[in-house]
Amino acid sequence: MADDTTDTKSSNQMWGGRFASGPDAIMEEINASIGFDKKLFAQDIRGSIAHATMLAHQGIISAEDRDKIVHGLNTILSEIESGNFEFSRQLEDIHMNVEARLATLIGPAAGRLHTARSRNDQVALDFRLWVKEELQKTEQMLTGLIAAFLDRAEEHAESVMPGFTHLQTAQPVTFGHHCMAYVEMFGRDRSRVRHAIEHLDESPIGAAALAGTGYPIDRHMTAKALGFREPTRNSIDTVSDRDFAIEFLSIAAIAGMHLSRLAEEIVIWSTPQFGFVRLSDAFSTGSSIMPQKKNPDAAELVRAKTGRINGSLVALLTIMKGLPLAYSKDMQEDKEQVFDAAESLELAIAAMTGMVRDMTVNTARMKAAAGSGYSTATDLADWLVREAGLPFRDAHHVTGRAVALAESKGCDLAELPLSDLQAIHPDITDKVYDVLTVEASVASRKSFGGTAPSEVRRQIAFWRARN
Ligand code: ARG
Repeated sequence: MADDTTDTKSSNQMWGGRFASGPDAIMEEINASIGFDKKLFAQDIRGSIAHATMLAHQGIISAEDRDKIVHGLNTILSEIESGNFEFSRQLEDIHMNVEARLATLIGPAAGRLHTARSRNDQVALDFRLWVKEELQKTEQMLTGLIAAFLDRAEEHAESVMPGFTHLQTAQPVTFGHHCMAYVEMFGRDRSRVRHAIEHLDESPIGAAALAGTGYPIDRHMTAKALGFREPTRNSIDTVSDRDFAIEFLSIAAIAGMHLSRLAEEIVIWSTPQFGFVRLSDAFSTGSSIMPQKKNPDAAELVRAKTGRINGSLVALLTIMKGLPLAYSKDMQEDKEQVFDAAESLELAIAAMTGMVRDMTVNTARMKAAAGSGYSTATDLADWLVREAGLPFRDAHHVTGRAVALAESKGCDLAELPLSDLQAIHPDITDKVYDVLTVEASVASRKSFGGTAPSEVRRQIAFWRARN
């Protein structure tokens, strides 16, 4: 800031040397990001402390100036944390707000902090640090959600429910198995989060405006101080890159899609028509006019938040897609998308974890529904293959006739008398009734990853060891 001493009051105190007057009001409004990037204050200050420490270590600034800078930055940190900091829109963003306050606090030494640095690498650093912390938080929250599902799966490893395709009853499954399907989904989301943390674990600071710097800085030192694995390798890419933000948004969009499917299932399951689950009072609302209603609002809002997250992903992809290297101011629009998506994702995971833990499962309703809709028809066909030696296609045909007969009589397959079944195929014996119950059906599906309680328990053990 040494060359800012000639500033007029109205021109910017950071670059006023070249400017005769301040910005138009509209310019200030479109340009300012402090309204949202103040969220990055802790990362900004942490980055500046690491940078000043490195500058002194390399003999670029004096130890005395470093001490003043570090002390001043810590003062600013507590001012902001305690709500005693006045953010100024004229100072545009968090970087200049902090630096201007530092100048007020410690005088000319503040002007040395921006040596060998630009706001381009500074914002890349602050934002990366923020996204990294958010990913770590997301990882933990997903672990909590997975744990909730594991508990419910264990409790319901044997509870039979209808498995659906096309939302039509297909074959009986266990509720535990269904819960474990979500464990797989959120487990994949969590491994995507872990990969993303690995990807972004490179320090941008020291790339400067875009070309690197002539000062003898030590980027490995700042990388280490800030908890990064190593510094980024190309200064142009470093200030142009927002992949880490887009990766966060894609992960959020995919996890959001999973959360939304779960939300949709909860909405369906909690209807009086299905009655598979009852949401706790803590996660439902009443109606102001219809006293009998209990609405799954939280699930519906999770479904809707997913729309917002998708919007943010598409917005940032679109912002970035036409930008020439290196930095362009368009990139300032990255933060609100990520902040909004992060808030939505956190809320959605928290609400779902609560709902999954709290909901009451009506196993009797599930079991009754599992037995309707000829859900064990495949078991009859499989029995004919196994016990009567029929090719599966023929067994399928015979079973189809049995289903048609049961339908015309208005009964279940297991309720057809043996004589009826034998009229359809003479090799059918009364042993067939052993496979026509829903319990026998699920117990028989012991293939790896199948719905048999023994398999579900194997899946639970696999995930318990990894959660
Ligand atoms: N507020 C800016 C942003 O969020 C900081 C970087 C500004 N750099 C610049 N060359 N104008 O992107």
